Amino acid sequence: MKPKRSVIITGSTRGIGFQTAIKFLAGGDRVVIFCRHRRHAESAVRRLRAYGAEEDILALAGDVRRQKDAERIVDLCLERFGGIDVLINNAGVFIYKTVEETGERQWDAVIGTNLKGTFLFTRQVVPVMKRQKSGIIINISSALGVEAEAKLSAYCASKFGVMGLTRAVADETAESGILVYAVLPWAVNTTLGAGSGLELDPSQLLTPEYVAGRIFEAARGRRKTGALFEVHS
Ligand SMILES: NC(=O)c1ccc[n+]([C@@H]2O[C@H](COP(=O)([O-])OP(=O)(O)OC[C@H]3O[C@@H](n4cnc5c(N)ncnc54)[C@H](OP(=O)(O)O)[C@@H]3O)[C@@H](O)[C@H]2O)c1
Repeated sequence: MKPKRSVIITGSTRGIGFQTAIKFLAGGDRVVIFCRHRRHAESAVRRLRAYGAEEDILALAGDVRRQKDAERIVDLCLERFGGIDVLINNAGVFIYKTVEETGERQWDAVIGTNLKGTFLFTRQVVPVMKRQKSGIIINISSALGVEAEAKLSAYCASKFGVMGLTRAVADETAESGILVYAVLPWAVNTTLGAGSGLELDPSQLLTPEYVAGRIFEAARGRRKTGALFEVHS
């Protein structure tokens, strides 16, 4: 029997993160799930019990923008599961506004969640993976991490930033046994995707289950560090 991997998925109580938790649990792994709201985490864990044993799920509340939460969540994962094999930096928020309409707080929320959150969790996990001499970090960027459009200045800035972070950390950790990847989905039918304000043809939206399947495949670790996984239909 293959050993169970320990997987932290940020922002995993709905959408792509939640479906990704299902894939790993159904594949026999252990997951740490969390979001900002304890009641969402509790509801998610009740639904996840259909896919894996209760002892393989650690559900927490926390905000990726806070260093203290990153420390606490990583420490609790180590305490409960003894290691971290995969980190999936998935938590994300979206705004659809021109640069003039974007308030400072909105800018901070998008950059803080999508980019700083990815940085904080990566920084916390890299020393653990270096000690283990193995580990995979998967950053959920976006097709909007390589192409920008009007009204997406904050979101694109955050996701372009995630691409730079991915490449830089892949380079830094290349000799450490750590693989760092970015996944770039096209539009997905989730709270974020469907509520984005972008004019999207609903029939063209990817399902979060499909994207989760691609993330699960990426976590097999078959590609070189720094690899990008584009996800479209
Ligand atoms: N949907 C798309 O079209 C699409 C396309 C390309 C890339 N992506 C990317 O895919 C990722 C997941 O998106 P999604 O569509 O699944 O979004 P979603 O359905 O809105 O889910 C986002 C998850 O992140 C959590 N979250 C938000 N802010 C957080 C914070 N500060 N700390 C911790 N958790 C937080 C949310 O829970 P709470 O609100 O309760 O905290 C929720 O569980 C994001 O990075 C997004 O940018 C999405």
